[in-house]
Amino acid sequence: MIQRVLFVCLGNICRSPTAHGVFQKRVDEAGLNHCIEIDSAGTGDWHIGHPPDRRMTAAAARREIDLSALRARQVAVDDFHDFDLILAMDRRNLADLQAIKPLHCRAELGLFLDYAASPLTEVPDPYYGAAEGFETVLDLVEDGAQGLLASLMQRDRES
Ligand code: 4NP
Repeated sequence: MIQRVLFVCLGNICRSPTAHGVFQKRVDEAGLNHCIEIDSAGTGDWHIGHPPDRRMTAAAARREIDLSALRARQVAVDDFHDFDLILAMDRRNLADLQAIKPLHCRAELGLFLDYAASPLTEVPDPYYGAAEGFETVLDLVEDGAQGLLASLMQRDRES
């Protein structure tokens, strides 16, 4: 069974592309890229077509995560029919998604960090902050990616 996961933040240039890149690497390493498909998008439209933020790409590259090929796009109504799981980086993203979610759709919505061991429930927006913010994004995303992979493998066994 193919499971499709969409990561969502505000701009799709910092947090959700990082989740996309980190989770893709974990899925590839686990040999599961034939059954888990991944994408990312933003609730906002400011950065459509742009590559991820340079500071985020550089911080990810230091952990051997390559974000350079990703380009920002905005969430669309079709995403709620095309994806099984749509995971928001913070509560505002989740509320914005819930506001445009069709009544009947395939996707289940949630917070990405619900899969993490960390007690934090939101990945803080690093855009206007200091360099450490980008490391925090990576730390939290790596935590969430590990839990999400375990959860999807469990779902697959149960299906
Ligand atoms: P992201 O970060 O939601 O993690 O991609 C942001 C990027 C850009 C803006 C806000 C957040 N912005 O206001 O342009």
